[in-house]
Amino acid sequence: MMGKGKLLVMVVFLVATVTFHLKVAGGETKAAGAELCKDCHEAQYNSYGKSKHSKKGFANSPANKSDCMACHREGIAHAEAGGGKGAGGIVALNGKNVSAAAKDAACLSCHASSRKLAFWDMGKHKKSDVACTSCHNIHGKKIAQVETCTGCHKDIKRDINRASHHPIVEGKVKCGDCHNPHGTLSHGMITAENTNQLCYKCHADKRGPWLWEHAPVEENCQTCHTAHGSRTAKLLVERQPNLCAECHFTAGGHTTSFAIGRGGFLGSSPSNRVMARSCTNCHSAIHGSNHPEDPQNQNSSGRFFVR
Ligand code: HEC
Ligand code: HEC
Ligand code: HEC
Ligand code: HEC
Ligand code: HEC
Ligand code: HEC
Ligand code: HEC
Ligand code: HEC
Ligand code: HEC
Ligand code: HEC
Repeated sequence: MMGKGKLLVMVVFLVATVTFHLKVAGGETKAAGAELCKDCHEAQYNSYGKSKHSKKGFANSPANKSDCMACHREGIAHAEAGGGKGAGGIVALNGKNVSAAAKDAACLSCHASSRKLAFWDMGKHKKSDVACTSCHNIHGKKIAQVETCTGCHKDIKRDINRASHHPIVEGKVKCGDCHNPHGTLSHGMITAENTNQLCYKCHADKRGPWLWEHAPVEENCQTCHTAHGSRTAKLLVERQPNLCAECHFTAGGHTTSFAIGRGGFLGSSPSNRVMARSCTNCHSAIHGSNHPEDPQNQNSSGRFFVR
């Protein structure tokens, strides 16, 4: 059974298709589709033929008259004028004198409703006039994602090559695993509500609930870690014990024995507490502990993240 709506759509489609072919036959265009452009732009014709856009055949619609014109718009007048820079109002999507907004419009006419582009208007890229075509190369070779991003973000390129880093240069993690370059509702265009939720996606073992929580861990992983790279092992923002000493420096407590002048880490006989993993030699459950409370012992080892 075919519904009335579907039948109507079919009829409209048939009429449109017939009209299109009549127009072509009637000589309004010299040839159908991309063939109109092939003679003069063979390189683009060929590269386009290999792309996903072409394979989808999306643009071979009556409204666009040609695959090419889905993006370049005024192709017929351009071809009729015999071609040339800007001839017939053709749009050069890589031109410096074409605004980012105008370039984007060519893409958004189809992609505005894509789920991944839902927050394009709120993203830093749109706000900084970074166009779709700054990252997407329609005709040329597909550029690897990390190279595309670090081409502009030189500071990040430096960070991901530091001694300790997320395995981005190794190809195990991509920028797009953590960021949506098309914009998000969250800060830093990250693909989660906040930093901790992002980290938990891949480091689920660091997500509680814990019997014994370590306050800064629950607050923000970035208090102790960098996201891209660091000179210090394990992506830490600073070496231990300094990292811990920023918050734990109790006079008389065992954290102070590392201080300068008490035979601490700069003294002549450094304490083994600052060697190797330093504080986490003992406080190994630094992200939180589920070790049960020991009623016999006030200094329950879980509470102090020793187990
Ligand atoms: C999906 C959109 C899209 C389609 C469809 C498309 N192009 Fe392009 N075209 C672009 C973009 C974007 C650029 C800017 C350079 C780049 O990104 O590769 C461009 C650049 C060009 C240029 C200028 C090259 C230069 O370096 O100055 C020509 C010529 C061209 N396209 C011809 C064509 C032809 C011919 C077709 C059809 C076979 C076609 N394009 C289909 C998006 C498209
Ligand atoms: C008779 C030859 C000819 C035909 C047919 C032709 N072009 Fe061109 N086109 C040119 C020439 C020449 C240029 C200028 C190239 C340059 O200076 O680098 C050009 C430039 C362009 C540019 C870049 C515009 C700019 O201002 O830099 C685009 C995009 C383009 N053509 C797309 C198309 C499309 C799409 C079609 C088919 C609908 C088409 N052309 C048909 C000859 C032609
Ligand atoms: C006429 C509609 C239309 C226009 C205009 C258009 N696209 Fe597309 N695009 C599509 C369709 C359809 C697909 C295939 C979607 C799929 O595979 O599910 C696609 C796929 C893509 C993809 C993913 C596939 C790939 O090749 O990696 C990217 C990226 C993309 N488009 C970028 C762009 C950019 C950038 C522009 C503007 C220069 C643009 N599109 C213009 C319809 C369009
Ligand atoms: C800052 C770089 C950048 C900009 C600007 C950008 N994109 Fe993308 N885009 C990417 C990357 C990287 C991917 C691949 C994401 C992934 O694989 O996780 C992608 C993927 C896509 C896809 C495929 C989505 C899917 O569902 O797989 C489409 C379509 C697309 N972009 C269209 C656009 C359009 C349209 C614009 C402009 C409005 C645009 N992009 C601007 C970097 C960018
Ligand atoms: C053409 C240059 C360019 C390219 C390519 C580019 N960016 Fe950007 N990016 C910018 C500019 C400009 C800004 C805004 C200024 C700033 O914060 O540095 C920005 C901002 C950002 C931000 C900060 C967002 C915020 O809210 O603070 C992130 C994250 C980002 N880009 C990620 C990426 C990723 C991932 C890629 C690759 C898929 C990429 N960028 C490719 C130019 C670029
Ligand atoms: C493991 C997740 C992750 C990966 C992979 C990642 N980032 Fe980030 N990035 C973050 C987090 C988290 C922030 C901080 C966001 C905030 O606090 O607003 C950030 C911030 C940024 C910023 C904002 C400026 C800054 O330094 O804080 C830029 C730009 C950026 N990233 C670009 C990139 C690029 C380019 C890549 C790929 C080479 C990349 N990121 C890979 C998680 C990641
Ligand atoms: C897309 C997945 C992914 C996300 C999201 C992610 N990581 Fe990772 N992380 C990895 C992978 C993969 C490794 C390497 C693991 C290995 O080599 O065994 C890693 C390693 C680490 C390491 C150890 C580094 C070393 O030198 O051994 C730390 C610390 C770390 N991540 C912290 C974070 C923090 C903090 C966040 C949130 C900002 C985060 N990660 C988000 C995938 C991710
Ligand atoms: C109070 C500081 C601090 C905070 C906050 C923190 N970490 Fe760590 N993290 C460390 C230290 C110290 C190490 C190194 C431990 C070692 O070498 O034994 C480490 C190591 C790691 C490692 C690599 C070794 C392992 O245990 O897998 C990952 C992954 C990690 N942290 C993820 C996270 C995530 C995710 C968050 C946020 C939920 C977070 N960290 C918050 C201090 C912290
Ligand atoms: C950003 C500040 C901050 C950093 C950095 C930090 N901590 Fe903490 N830590 C806290 C806070 C806040 C508490 C909860 C204090 C309380 O309950 O009295 C805590 C609690 C603890 C406790 C339990 C103390 C108790 O009395 O229950 C231990 C043990 C501990 N941290 C060790 C470490 C170690 C080891 C490091 C370094 C790897 C570290 N912390 C880094 C803020 C920090
Ligand atoms: C040799 C093992 C060991 C090392 C190394 C160690 N701790 Fe402890 N720490 C403990 C034990 C066990 C406790 C439980 C309470 C106690 O017995 O004093 C504790 C308790 C604590 C407490 C809570 C009580 C207090 O004194 O405030 C903090 C905070 C703390 N450690 C921080 C650190 C920091 C920071 C470092 C590195 C500079 C460090 N610890 C190195 C074993 C160690």
